[in-house]
Amino acid sequence: MSFCFNFDLPAQTAASDDVDGNERQTGKKNSYSKCTEDSPKLAGPVKEAEEHLPPRDPQFLLTDAVFETVTVGTLPPLHFLNETIFERTALERDDREKILSRRAEQRSDLISGVYEGGLKVWECTYDLLELIEKDGETFRGKAVLDLGCGAGLLGILALKRGAGQVHFQDYNSTVVQQLTVPNVLLNCQEDDEVDSEDDKNREGEGKILEDGREKSGKEEENDSNPPSKKRAVDLSQHPSLSRCHFFSGDWSTFLPLVLKTQPQPKFDIIFTSETIYNPEYYPALHETLHKLLAPGGLVYLATKAHYFGVGGGLHLFETFVEQRGIFSLDRLWDGEEGLQRHVVALRFKKQT
Ligand SMILES: C[S@@+](CC[C@H](N)C(=O)[O-])C[C@H]1O[C@@H](n2cnc3c(N)ncnc32)[C@H](O)[C@@H]1O
Repeated sequence: MSFCFNFDLPAQTAASDDVDGNERQTGKKNSYSKCTEDSPKLAGPVKEAEEHLPPRDPQFLLTDAVFETVTVGTLPPLHFLNETIFERTALERDDREKILSRRAEQRSDLISGVYEGGLKVWECTYDLLELIEKDGETFRGKAVLDLGCGAGLLGILALKRGAGQVHFQDYNSTVVQQLTVPNVLLNCQEDDEVDSEDDKNREGEGKILEDGREKSGKEEENDSNPPSKKRAVDLSQHPSLSRCHFFSGDWSTFLPLVLKTQPQPKFDIIFTSETIYNPEYYPALHETLHKLLAPGGLVYLATKAHYFGVGGGLHLFETFVEQRGIFSLDRLWDGEEGLQRHVVALRFKKQT
């Protein structure tokens, strides 16, 4: 099934101010929003943020799971639920938000303010994985936030490479519960395979397979250790899971919720891939990065140059960041093929 952007929904008034003090949907426009004629409007009130604790019996989330694996160079292989099978079984899944059925009905990858695209892995995630592979970032002991995580591959990579803690955030609770958490569990399961095989001396380091070999679900079935045996481990007690936190909701409500936790988290690394497509969201996104990045921390932002039909893109976001004057922005990678894609780094400007 192929999907497309769809912002034809009628705009309604969203009640809340955003966290940067700029009102959403009020008709007030700053100098920045004037230049975004094709900005989509929000479809309704934003989603209230909530924290999701990992399920007490996580095993059921992986029952009959069909997964695929992405392997980039020497990075540990990353497992995630197969998109096609996920779509086919969508109606059987618990979905308080009803985004699975609405997405299928509207054949849309984005329904502004309702579903923000987290059910598939977007291509800039792969760009970022390749860049990290070249840079050799290790994540060891670091606090990492995967902001707008969707399937969560970037956060999972950090987890596997030994990050001290990883926060995953997605707009939709269904995405977090039905996709992000199961994907984390799939990868925890693999940690156990390695630990139990030959890697006792690396136990607890969160570092696993580095042979660069891609292993498909089918190969798993053919292994001498069948998957069912590997799944006997009690995932709810898994040490990697205790380093994870899961949140859903709009950034404007996610930020105050996270700031309430004690000690307040600050992140050494924030990943955010394909999250700047909607200029209406820039104030809340920028404020979240501003308040949650640790001094000396780094935001990896991966994006397309322009999101046709939606309005956002790198140039607009860069202008927004410049106007705010908080971060410096450096280009790390520019792709030239097809629809141009980029990876940039945001760091706090040095005080003068
Ligand atoms: C296009 S998806 C990208 C998903 C994933 N990062 C990837 O690259 O595959 C955009 C993500 O940004 C997040 N997002 C977009 N707007 C948001 C908002 N206003 N508040 C919170 N999250 C938002 C959603 O969680 C959504 O999963």
